[in-house]
Amino acid sequence: MPHRLLSTYDPLPISFSHGEGAWIWDKEGNRYLDSISGFGVNILGYGNTEWINFVQQQSSRLIHVSNMYLIPERDELAERVCAKTGMDKVFFTNSGSEANECAIKLARLYGHQKGINEPTIVVFDGAFHGRTIATLTASGLRHMQAGFEPLASGFLRAPFDDINALKHIADNRSDVVAVMFEPIQGAGGINLASPAFLKEIRALCDKHQWLMISDEVQTGVERTGEFLTLHHYQIEADIVTLAKALGNGIPIGACLTKGVANDLFTPEKHGSTQGGNPFVCAVANKTLEIVEGLNLVANARQQGQNLLAALTEQFAHHKAVKSVRGQGLMLGIEMHKPCKAIAKIALEKGLLVNIANQNVIRLLPPLVIQSHEVAMISEKLGHVVDAFAEL
Ligand SMILES: Cc1ncc(COP(=O)(O)O)c(C=O)c1O
Repeated sequence: MPHRLLSTYDPLPISFSHGEGAWIWDKEGNRYLDSISGFGVNILGYGNTEWINFVQQQSSRLIHVSNMYLIPERDELAERVCAKTGMDKVFFTNSGSEANECAIKLARLYGHQKGINEPTIVVFDGAFHGRTIATLTASGLRHMQAGFEPLASGFLRAPFDDINALKHIADNRSDVVAVMFEPIQGAGGINLASPAFLKEIRALCDKHQWLMISDEVQTGVERTGEFLTLHHYQIEADIVTLAKALGNGIPIGACLTKGVANDLFTPEKHGSTQGGNPFVCAVANKTLEIVEGLNLVANARQQGQNLLAALTEQFAHHKAVKSVRGQGLMLGIEMHKPCKAIAKIALEKGLLVNIANQNVIRLLPPLVIQSHEVAMISEKLGHVVDAFAEL
């Protein structure tokens, strides 16, 4: 661990120099198949020349001006993300945590507008919404929260994918103003919300005038085979948050609103010095343009299906594997026991993966991944899991 860095991560002993498509090379010249794409950020993979040329060009034109002025690149991006998501309005941030903070602030304003002085947001076990105090409170991974008390008030935790628990809250609480969730929990271990659960959230939000807040920071931007994961079920949220893949590595987040959530902010209520600057907005526009031009949504669907089928078959009777699950190019292999060692074993076999929630191998390959590479991920993982089972 570099001794000048605060100890927030425990990195593997490797650093990278460059990449091409779904492949990345370390400083010694060894290549690795990237199945995590920087936690779902690098959707275009590496070395896309159209994107790189654009970034170079744009960076020499204009990087930043303050929000005191109009920013046409931001207007264009706002139009584009609203068209893609079906939402009405947007606020741009620098990260997913900030996008979720924005959503939480909107929900609280909404509550106060309704005369609820202590508005409560329902959140779920296993959720991950970020590292700021409010988003950490909203998260349901206790080991990340421990030591940061006092956490924020105004959150009520419920079991994930449990319709009855949600109905019980609806019957017993008058201070709820919103339900915040990930349609597929990422850091929680690739836990898919059932369509029935998502529909019930929408129904309860309609019935009780709660805001439905879908955190699509990890699941959004075509990752699961639709621009938003909620689009698989034709469900519209009142607030949607995005980040990660939106800038393909140039940091950006977005909090999108619809209907009653559109007009809650007034000037001075919220802001960000660098959020939505001309450079990052132009890059995000270009990213989305390339994603569309390459029809990466179709690739995410197809390769996701291929990978899920290959892994399901391969691990169906493996003694170390509990289950395989996922949607599009967001997949998890749940092991019977904690498996942190797998990230290192995979690295030694030329594969980048991540372990989520102690015992789930998380796969978020770049959306440009090809069929033969999907087959390689599956084959390499077979060796990795076998080696782990022998430990
Ligand atoms: C679903 C979800 N929400 C929020 C965040 C926080 O995003 P950021 O790290 O950009 O603040 C993450 C990050 O992993 C995430 O997966």
